[in-house]
Amino acid sequence: MTGKIKKVRKAVLPVAGLGTRFLPATKAIPKEMLTVVDKPLIQYAVEECIASGIEHVIFVTGRRKSAIEDHFDLAPELESFLIERGKPEHAKMVREISGGLHFSYTRQSEALGLGHAVLCAAELVGDEPFAVLLGDVIMEGKVPATRELIDIYEATGGGAIHVERVPRERVHLYGIIDGVPEEGTRFGDRLLRVKDLVEKPSADKAPSNLGVTGRYVLPPEIFEYLENTKPGAGGEIQLTDGLRRLAEDNKLFACIYDGKTYDAGDKLGFLQATVEMGLKNPKLGPDFRAYLQGLKL
Ligand code: G1P
Repeated sequence: MTGKIKKVRKAVLPVAGLGTRFLPATKAIPKEMLTVVDKPLIQYAVEECIASGIEHVIFVTGRRKSAIEDHFDLAPELESFLIERGKPEHAKMVREISGGLHFSYTRQSEALGLGHAVLCAAELVGDEPFAVLLGDVIMEGKVPATRELIDIYEATGGGAIHVERVPRERVHLYGIIDGVPEEGTRFGDRLLRVKDLVEKPSADKAPSNLGVTGRYVLPPEIFEYLENTKPGAGGEIQLTDGLRRLAEDNKLFACIYDGKTYDAGDKLGFLQATVEMGLKNPKLGPDFRAYLQGLKL
């Protein structure tokens, strides 16, 4: 099987959403550019791409999102200014944001759903496997999340997604899988073969409590499936419904994530990410910890 498997070089980052959950902060600023400690949220996903060996990032963007393009572009004037002012380390930091990646941008002009957003990248991806990262989810683990999924794709030839256990009262916020353990792989008991999955089920209809985290590595067949996917939950073309077709073909694997996931797409999750990433920050962490410990709550 490995003979046929192409290298995963590209990642699709859907960033066209309006960010209504963060209004008023997102009236003029894309949600993806909100800062978690000292970087915009979307930079965490791009850094995960770099750490996972991705070469080409495709943003599926929309109106009022040009700050994202500017952030990952070179900024020669800013760099010269910083060097003239004796701040070479800042100039280096600015230069390294793009990490040598190639960036492309395409638009999703209407909010027709995550499946539709991924489909918008079909031409730029072409006939090769690719990763999808939802930029409002920060995933922190020993192995970069996307790297682990690429390894599963390369070993199995099937699509790979991360899942994690979510409380029953939150299953209606996620894609939820029905899976069975996949024996005899080097990924151990964290690897499941997906039998089916449902987008945002009610607690009584959920097939498990394993929620899709927002990291995917998919074969190019997914585009054909998405083209034929009708609007589903919330009247949108759901990526989950395209993934069901891969599961029907026995070509979808789920890995229970061995790390910490922050859903910074809602205000509480964003605050949790800010506090925990602040505590982990090598420069700020110790002082921030002392500050939190001294708070009289
Ligand atoms: C999307 C997906 C869902 C997944 C979730 C993870 O939903 O449709 O399957 O579980 O991301 O964050 P959204 O949060 O965009 O509504």
